[in-house]
Amino acid sequence: MKVIIASDHAGYDLKERMKILFSGKLEFEDLGTFSEESVDYPDFAHPLSERVASQEFPFGILICGTGNGMAMCANKHQDIRAGLCWHPDIAKLVRQHNNANILVMPARFISEHTAAEIMEAFFSTDFEGGRHQRRVEKINL
Ligand code: RB5
Repeated sequence: MKVIIASDHAGYDLKERMKILFSGKLEFEDLGTFSEESVDYPDFAHPLSERVASQEFPFGILICGTGNGMAMCANKHQDIRAGLCWHPDIAKLVRQHNNANILVMPARFISEHTAAEIMEAFFSTDFEGGRHQRRVEKINL
């Protein structure tokens, strides 16, 4: 599966680690950032979200220090459901219940091991539909 990924400087190292760890399972289009030089998270979150909302990619991954800046930007876009995940069970539930199409991770608050577990859970879990479909349909404004 081809996914699109981006981070700011705070998430740069974790982004690189996830690309290496999941290179056998996922194909990544990397929108940057490409170093630890300070950048502004909206400059990465908005272009990535547009490309997921247009269905060019089924899923995106955004990483910043807390995850909150990336999630706030991504969730401004119609048809984007970005879930901030700091535990694999949350990643599983955000797919099952919320049909999240962008995974957001807080690089400064999770280990590489936890991030890998979150990625594994997110990308191996399907949306449950049913009552959750009705709720998801009420998200867009
Ligand atoms: C960068 O210092 C930090 O503010 C950013 O990575 C993120 O945590 C914002 O929400």
